[in-house]
Amino acid sequence: MGEHLTVGHVAELAGVSVRTLHHYDEIGLVHPSARTAAGYRAYSADDVERLREVLVYRRLGLGLREIADLVNDPALNAVARLHRLHGLLLEQRDRAAALVTAIDTELKERAMGLRTTPQQQLGPFGAQLYEAIGSAYPATRRTEPRIAAQLWAALGDAETVLNVGAGSGSYEPPDRDVTAVEPSAVMRDQRPAGAARCLAASAESLPFEDQSFDAAMAVSTLHHWHDPIAGLREMRRVARRVVVFTHDASAAGWLHRFWLTRDYLPEVAALTAGRPSIDELRRAINARLEPVLVPWDCADGFFEAHWRRPEAYLEEPVRRAVSVWSRVGPEAEHRAIDRLSADLTSNRWSERNSELVALDAAELGLRLLVA
Ligand SMILES: C[S@@+](CC[C@H](N)C(=O)[O-])C[C@H]1O[C@@H](n2cnc3c(N)ncnc32)[C@H](O)[C@@H]1O
Repeated sequence: MGEHLTVGHVAELAGVSVRTLHHYDEIGLVHPSARTAAGYRAYSADDVERLREVLVYRRLGLGLREIADLVNDPALNAVARLHRLHGLLLEQRDRAAALVTAIDTELKERAMGLRTTPQQQLGPFGAQLYEAIGSAYPATRRTEPRIAAQLWAALGDAETVLNVGAGSGSYEPPDRDVTAVEPSAVMRDQRPAGAARCLAASAESLPFEDQSFDAAMAVSTLHHWHDPIAGLREMRRVARRVVVFTHDASAAGWLHRFWLTRDYLPEVAALTAGRPSIDELRRAINARLEPVLVPWDCADGFFEAHWRRPEAYLEEPVRRAVSVWSRVGPEAEHRAIDRLSADLTSNRWSERNSELVALDAAELGLRLLVA
């Protein structure tokens, strides 16, 4: 019995009752693979792993029948299961962060004698991240022509193009036949009149036949996918060419290269922990990597865009249009902004980053994956 844990021990470790474990066994959810000499249930390492998966799904609020379908899914190996749990937990954390931000705002408004509307109070419930933050997106997010030119060149002579995680439609090439997919209704509603048709779908499960498009593109979205590898393989399945604009989130690639993460917002590292590396992403679809330089006057207000215009980060609308700020939470955001503001006033920022002033474009770890 050396490798096995008794039912009492497992219950104690997991913080559930023995009765719950008996019930999971009776309904076939987690069946302990052995018995002690005295006839008690005993759990192997694999049984414990399955129980952990069940308990995470319980904590995420799923019903037992739904959980049974997930844990019995034969298509996923242990690592893919962990990626799925990781993605779902991140999503739950993001939703909690959106609620914290909403309540934080309401507290400030109450302190000023203002009352929030019922719509503002109820809006963030049940919403996905972009349902909560998406309405702030158009203020600063638009197509940056120099990055668009690089991306469109990578699409080659593709005539039909699928845009995955399309948002409001930035970077959709005007001279090709584009179809978009976007899971957030808030983002779909922001697509301008005349934009390409857009379906409600996620990268991990694209509602198209194999090889339906000449090319599939994805811009500034992969870091939101629950399972980036599955999403990339789906793009590969439905298109002959794949072009993805993303970032190398390793410490060397991005976290340390950009002064904002390095000196003010180290919490970003926790957001990328456990996500596939740029090399794993590349290998998943046998892609090549192209560096994408960020122009000093970048028109698209993504996280790194204002690397030579640090004052921009002090502006609330600039931050609200970038999910990172909601994901790190209000405490880290306020601390980072207070510190940056003080360093700008004291010229400490300029002294530390003097070499940036002479650059027209910066290599901050942004990459195109081209397959
Ligand atoms: C930063 S926005 C980028 C939008 C657009 N591609 C652009 O460049 O403006 C990220 C988008 O990814 C979408 N998204 C989140 N999870 C997704 C998933 N699993 N599959 C596809 N898109 C997803 C969000 O709803 C959001 O619209």
